[in-house]
Amino acid sequence: MPSLPGRRTVAKYLVGGAALTVFAACTAPAKPMPSKTGGPVPGSSPGPAAGGEMPTAAGPPADGAPLAAATDGGAVAGPAAPAPPASQAEPWAPPASGPVPSRGSPVHALKTKYSLSDPNSPWVVVNKHLPLNPLSYEPPDLVRPALPPGSGGEAALLRAEVAAAASRMFVAAAAAGAPMTLLSSYRSYDMQAALYGGYAAQTGGADADTKSARAGYSEHQTGLALDIGDANGLCNLNPCFATAPAAAWAGANCHLFGFTVRYQLGHDGVTGFYAEPWHLRYLGVEMAADIVAKGFGSLEEFLGIEPAAAYL
Ligand code: DAL
Ligand code: ZN
Repeated sequence: MPSLPGRRTVAKYLVGGAALTVFAACTAPAKPMPSKTGGPVPGSSPGPAAGGEMPTAAGPPADGAPLAAATDGGAVAGPAAPAPPASQAEPWAPPASGPVPSRGSPVHALKTKYSLSDPNSPWVVVNKHLPLNPLSYEPPDLVRPALPPGSGGEAALLRAEVAAAASRMFVAAAAAGAPMTLLSSYRSYDMQAALYGGYAAQTGGADADTKSARAGYSEHQTGLALDIGDANGLCNLNPCFATAPAAAWAGANCHLFGFTVRYQLGHDGVTGFYAEPWHLRYLGVEMAADIVAKGFGSLEEFLGIEPAAAYL
């Protein structure tokens, strides 16, 4: 793994009541947002997501089931497009705008390619250097995920494909004896602004910036990210969650459902955030599995794009 400029020690995260503040910041109830595509209505009784029954613990999906292909200067190809011959598939022309993956990045070898900058893309990169465009972006197809009983998240919303993947993952985790709860999912710009603002008022902006994204800079605003908790809740959204069964299971298996543990221990100098073993980001199985297979600890390193430890 390359050295990480500006890396800060995770120990800072553990002192000074920071954990308590994180808990307060991360547990604000999700504000429901109406689905724009006729999905389940937030606030009504829980129901299946995206027209599906509660999945069984049959195992992970066979494919990445990626979201509809995003457009970005013609540099992306959707799942419906015929696969080009290997000779034509490389090199991947860099997007017209947004982050440009390094020549050596494994992303060039992936079969399915999506925009890294379109907020509707499952591969959109959101970090302290790369805000959402527009800042007030709202996902087009939010639905409530169908979760096993007791998983919480009744008011939670995710993009339809992510909700389906999360449903499968939660069922599999429960079947494996590591039941998860859904603590947070989609957050609007206004909700993220309130969350960050409250946190900054408590401990100051510099501290807030290590734990909570500013509005327009959070993966939660994409509808592609969720925060998981553990059945007993004792370490939810705290550093000790890293030792919880749900975190261990997610760390070992979430890529099989298309998720990556986005903020990993020791990579805060790249991601800009201390370890959050609870924050799972959907990328689709293809990329999420490749990140694990290649041993990368952050999306930025996998793509070979610049670290984003601080806001520009
Ligand atoms: N806690 C993560 C970084 C967020 O606020 O999006
Ligand atoms: Zn999160």
